[in-house]
Amino acid sequence: MITPKTTAPGKAVRKDKKSTFEPRIMAFCCNWCSYAGADLAGTSRMQMPPNVRIIRVNCTGRIDISFILDALYQGADGVLVSGCHPGDCHYTSGNLKMKSRFALLKRLLEEAGLEPERVHLQWASAAEGEVFAEGITNMVERIKKLGPNPVGRRI
Ligand code: FES
Repeated sequence: MITPKTTAPGKAVRKDKKSTFEPRIMAFCCNWCSYAGADLAGTSRMQMPPNVRIIRVNCTGRIDISFILDALYQGADGVLVSGCHPGDCHYTSGNLKMKSRFALLKRLLEEAGLEPERVHLQWASAAEGEVFAEGITNMVERIKKLGPNPVGRRI
């Protein structure tokens, strides 16, 4: 029996590629809250996709926009920045500075023609392992829908 084709052959191949696509996520985590939260998620054996590589920084205020752009250029399909809740930053206002920079970053990505949804900023304390795990899970699902980063080098 012959089954009718409902999509063009090229589209079928693209859909197939997307379904096997495993995004590479880079996460910049503040040492004092989110990195400990990520550690808690791991030691508590919380379920989350293994697609993430974590870079520990002292504070999200230390993260320059160029770090995130470079991660995307180097092949990351998405970048997560995770830090202390507003008011909890160990350097007083580093996370608020990151929040301002992040708004600029999203506008830059949009201007460059790249989906701003490829980057995400979240707050997660050391006790919020589930928030971190959920952030990673949501990020992976979102990037899977977007597909591979079109500007990143595929190493
Ligand atoms: Fe965590 Fe500043 S110390 S965001």
